[in-house]
Amino acid sequence: MKKLNKIHLAQFLVHGPTYHSLGMWRHPKTISSGFKWDKPELYQHIARVCERGLFDTVFFADLNYIADTYKGAMAPSLMHATQAPEHDPIPLLSFMAAATKKIGVASTFSVSHSHPFYAARLWATLDHLTNGRAGWNVVTSINSNQAANYGEERQSTDNRYDRAHEFMEVCQKLWNSWDVDAVKMDHENGIFSDPEKVNRIEHTGKFFKSRGPLNVTRSPQNGPAIFQAGTSPKGQDFAVKYADAIFAIQPRPEDAANYFNSIKSQMTDIGRDPDACKILFGMQPIIGSSEAEAREKQEEHNALVPLEGGMAILSAHLDFDLSKIPADALMSERNEPELYRMRTRFHKIDGTPMTVAETAARHGQSVSLPQFVGTPQGIADQMEAFINVAGGDGFMLTAIHSPGAIEEFVDLVVPELQKRGIYRKEYKGNTQREILNQKD
Ligand SMILES: Cc1cc2nc3c(=O)[nH]c(=O)nc-3n(C[C@H](O)[C@H](O)[C@H](O)COP(=O)(O)O)c2cc1C
Repeated sequence: MKKLNKIHLAQFLVHGPTYHSLGMWRHPKTISSGFKWDKPELYQHIARVCERGLFDTVFFADLNYIADTYKGAMAPSLMHATQAPEHDPIPLLSFMAAATKKIGVASTFSVSHSHPFYAARLWATLDHLTNGRAGWNVVTSINSNQAANYGEERQSTDNRYDRAHEFMEVCQKLWNSWDVDAVKMDHENGIFSDPEKVNRIEHTGKFFKSRGPLNVTRSPQNGPAIFQAGTSPKGQDFAVKYADAIFAIQPRPEDAANYFNSIKSQMTDIGRDPDACKILFGMQPIIGSSEAEAREKQEEHNALVPLEGGMAILSAHLDFDLSKIPADALMSERNEPELYRMRTRFHKIDGTPMTVAETAARHGQSVSLPQFVGTPQGIADQMEAFINVAGGDGFMLTAIHSPGAIEEFVDLVVPELQKRGIYRKEYKGNTQREILNQKD
């Protein structure tokens, strides 16, 4: 077997009752855990568990809507908790960082609805509070429900990313508006900051104006580490330029390899070290003490996911009402433009094309992250096999129940990965960016 670099792991979360499994909120093990999804103790516990597992980061998705995309009604989203409700994850990052010392704390925050001054200030502050462990997943929002909540129309891909590039440019100028040695704290001479070392940015662009400087001092990472999850060529272009890590959903290893090679070669083209951006592929582990027990757990979990919920969440993520096409149509044979973006999620691992209903069922189970099912050794085998084909830098994990499934992975699979020499035994580095760049 090909020798692997040490892999990176991250935990995918939502500040809500169902992370990416619609079965989670009513899974018996979630119910019996005693934790409440809307209270910080659960997330602090998860952060400690993931830090025990030496994960790079705990990483939150975020949406700003309750979707009525499917059948034009909110009822399916509300009944099946399809990322609805979803509380704001940003305040949780401070709670989680306060309970840990090393692990990164990252969240999605859309650039589509705010001014870059606000975002630059928020993320620099979080980077200070966490001693350089903040990570920002920069997304542009594609959902019409979300746009409507901000009194806007959904934007074209070109417009979203043109705006996003300028948004980042302004944030970077603001983070750089304080020189490294601007803060003097010279008590004797009465000089807090050196006025020569704090500068206006005077930005005037197509979308934004900002005078600056930022009223937050230069943070440990000079702004947070940047995550990205775009899929279109414009989205990839954005990731290639700015991202320290990309989160990708590519259930088939062959598609994952294409994605990985495309990103890494585009990085080389623009003169960035391809290793400077880690690509983490999503997967949902289901662990048993035997293969048969793991399969039983998979069946138990998948049976808790209602098809209507899957239809609702997939429709929301596509921003397309799937009730408009027959449930037994093959997704990959449809030519509605909204479906194109997720086309690599429309086949089973063996390449068999899936119907609308099958794709929706899988999306409800895990937002289409592939399920790796087996004993701890079996899961480690599947991870190695995936990376050997895909060439990825690691995995973003999502749980079937919480927090128990996260604990099981850390206690059972992490030691197996360490035994095989493919996973770290300690953190080397202090900031989110340093840990993402840790090689061994
Ligand atoms: C793995 C993954 C996770 C994503 N998570 C979020 C999220 O939490 N919130 C959000 O608004 N968009 C999220 N997105 C949407 C993307 O940021 C992006 O807008 C979408 O995939 C459309 O791709 P494009 O912008 O390149 O066209 C996610 C996308 C992917 C692939």
